[in-house]
Amino acid sequence: SESSQFCDAGFGYGESCGVSSSSSTKLLIKGGTVVNAHEMEVADVYVEDGIIVAVRPNIKVGDDVTVLEATGKFVMPGGIDPHTHLDMEFMGSGTIDDFFSGQAAALAGGTTMHIDFVIPVNGSLLSGLEAYEKKSKKSCMDYGFHMAITKWDEVVSKEMEIMVNEKGINSFKFFMAYKGSFMINDELLLQAFKKCKSLGALAMVHAENGDAVYEGQRRMIELGITGPEGHALSRPPVLEGEATARAIKLAGFVNTPLYVVHVMSIDAMEEISKARKSGLKVIGEPVVSGLVLNDSWLWDPDFITAAKYVMSPPIRAAGHGKALQAALSMGTLQLVGTDHCTFNSTQKALGIDDFQKIPNGVNGIEERMHLVWDTMVESGQISVTDYVRVTSTECARIFNIYPRKGAIRAGSDADIIILNPNSSFEISAKSHHSRSDTNVYEGWRGKGKVEVTISGGRVVWLNDELKVFPGSGKYVEMRPFSYLFNGIGKADAKYLSSLKAPVKRFRATT
Ligand code: URP
Ligand code: ZN
Ligand code: ZN
Ligand code: ZN
Repeated sequence: SESSQFCDAGFGYGESCGVSSSSSTKLLIKGGTVVNAHEMEVADVYVEDGIIVAVRPNIKVGDDVTVLEATGKFVMPGGIDPHTHLDMEFMGSGTIDDFFSGQAAALAGGTTMHIDFVIPVNGSLLSGLEAYEKKSKKSCMDYGFHMAITKWDEVVSKEMEIMVNEKGINSFKFFMAYKGSFMINDELLLQAFKKCKSLGALAMVHAENGDAVYEGQRRMIELGITGPEGHALSRPPVLEGEATARAIKLAGFVNTPLYVVHVMSIDAMEEISKARKSGLKVIGEPVVSGLVLNDSWLWDPDFITAAKYVMSPPIRAAGHGKALQAALSMGTLQLVGTDHCTFNSTQKALGIDDFQKIPNGVNGIEERMHLVWDTMVESGQISVTDYVRVTSTECARIFNIYPRKGAIRAGSDADIIILNPNSSFEISAKSHHSRSDTNVYEGWRGKGKVEVTISGGRVVWLNDELKVFPGSGKYVEMRPFSYLFNGIGKADAKYLSSLKAPVKRFRATT
């Protein structure tokens, strides 16, 4: 099914299927409820050449315009996934979804943009970016980049300036875990936070105490626990809480905003909550797996079943997910990602004798929009407008691409979905669009279905069929100094003026 899924719809990768990328550059979405992050109204949406031209009731058009009927349905900004790893080399393997298959899957699930993490090559940001520019040439939807920092010296510091000032990257990620590969120490973290602040770039952290994780792994191996459950047992929530607190305190000390990726535990969430209450600019990103799954799968007697749930930080015991959902609904956590980082069963089997060798990561790029709707909106925990905020608008604001992205309004990119709240969805590896042979949400049925996805003004998902073309996606440059930086300078000035003049002390001379 991996090789045939797009050809089923007549649109194979790299083939010319003889159909233009758009039968019409003019589109009218008629009669739907248009939802933005702070309001909704029944209105038509008129699109020309990839841009939303008008949003108002009763738009009249000629017959050269393709009309999509949306009465009784929600017309919303396409999802933006802030956290993905397409075509990434990791743990002796490579993620199975590349920039084409991963994005095709995204579009089939109502996500129209993602931000992927560029991994430096031998510490070099420029080489890393060059590699990702090549990988992303086959893109079929819009995308942006974060940049990981895996070592520190003057070259890296200068390269950060180039990334921000010339390459459209406004965020840097630091791994406090993965000892021996990506992990960095507190000294680097402090230097890099300072640099981020000076550039107006957002610092992001994978918060787990990597030294303690290493110790936890030794402990499990000594106990003879080598299966996937050892993954969860070796890196408990306390290690996530500790690193989250440490990163928050160091970012606060530098006075620069912080974004905590994949918040998986109550421990980490409570540190973020405390920090926000004290006025610190901290963003918390739960991922779908952490919101809706629990760790019981890791004890499944079938290795492949258990191994597919291995990601870091681990999926936690039942109860953590519920608390993260509540935190999302209250605004303690602000937006939902996926950390889509997919390995198939053959790749997961690398760790058959040792959980430490199971490539870490789960799917989600195709499922996020449906699962957040089903879990958060259908359950009554958040409103439809909040749904748009946590799946799209807040991400666009944080990464400074709003209102080009994340809004249904005149002048915005025509990245739009039509969601039918009365229809239903079912998730299965048999029907999904990822190249993986497994799905961590296998068998999930829920309410609300993305029936239409429009990407850059083109209808790419309709009647359960994808029409996607490699090379049609655009790189979205992201400028520094998002709204999170408002007030940073004032706070610094206040801090400096609070330092009293140095005390003059007399020294006795002999
Ligand atoms: O297990 C995970 N999360 N894999 C992807 C890399 C990361 O830490 O985000
Ligand atoms: Zn084909
Ligand atoms: Zn991570
Ligand atoms: Zn990740």
